[in-house]
Amino acid sequence: MGADDPLILDITYPDTRSEIIANADTVLDEIDYLIAGAPVYCGKLPLLALECLRALHGHGKKATAVAVYGNRDYGTALYNMVEMLSQNGFNVIAAGLFIGQHSYSDVVPVAIGRPDESDIEKAREFGAQVLQASKPLNIEDIPIQWDKHSKSKEYTALKPTYKGKICIKCGRCAEVCPTGILSSETGEHLNRHGKKNCIGCMACVNNCKSEARISKANPIVRLMMKRVLGQASRERKEPFVMM
Ligand SMILES: Cc1cc2nc3c(=O)[nH]c(=O)nc-3n(C[C@H](O)[C@H](O)[C@H](O)COP(=O)(O)O)c2cc1C
Repeated sequence: MGADDPLILDITYPDTRSEIIANADTVLDEIDYLIAGAPVYCGKLPLLALECLRALHGHGKKATAVAVYGNRDYGTALYNMVEMLSQNGFNVIAAGLFIGQHSYSDVVPVAIGRPDESDIEKAREFGAQVLQASKPLNIEDIPIQWDKHSKSKEYTALKPTYKGKICIKCGRCAEVCPTGILSSETGEHLNRHGKKNCIGCMACVNNCKSEARISKANPIVRLMMKRVLGQASRERKEPFVMM
């Protein structure tokens, strides 16, 4: 949208999310226009993103909702984001679905290099168009793709495998982990709930310098992923925007 000095609150990280949840009204005082963005996990918004966005009350401020998915299926994610923001008093005037490289591209490459130049150009055009828009979106118009993932409340994620012997203890995994479950000193889970609380985003795997964290699916899971993601890799999906 060409703002000179946008306030960027990266809700990937636990500290920022806690700050927003604790001081939602103060945070919003600093905002004229909210652009909310989150990835699609299992056809839904990740719970951590939902919980944080739910804390924000718009008091009539304008908002744009954006969901980013891995070229498979966006499920109910955008619908839920628009619905929640509208219920919380935002005037949601635009929404978009964009494509990002699939987090499980180590297993099956999907949407490699996305968002690419063409996606970014479409996002820029979207931003420029949104500046002219003012009418609230009708929730009935927000697209939904129903499949077994979006219909279910479950989040089935592939959890990384950790090889302590080759870990160089650089602490990078702990820095990038959205759930704050890793020790920056040892590289291990901070406590026994670690594995349960891991959302399988693969940030630690993608940022590990020594390949001590890897995505390793058992043969049955790998086969299932190959089928589902193989299908998703065949056709390039394009961003969708509405206002
Ligand atoms: C647990 C999990 C579930 C996912 N589910 C979907 C999905 O249902 N449909 C889809 O197209 N992409 C799915 N993805 C891929 C992500 O939406 C996509 O890779 C996104 O760009 C990830 O953003 P992030 O790296 O900020 O998490 C999933 C990724 C993860 C980690």
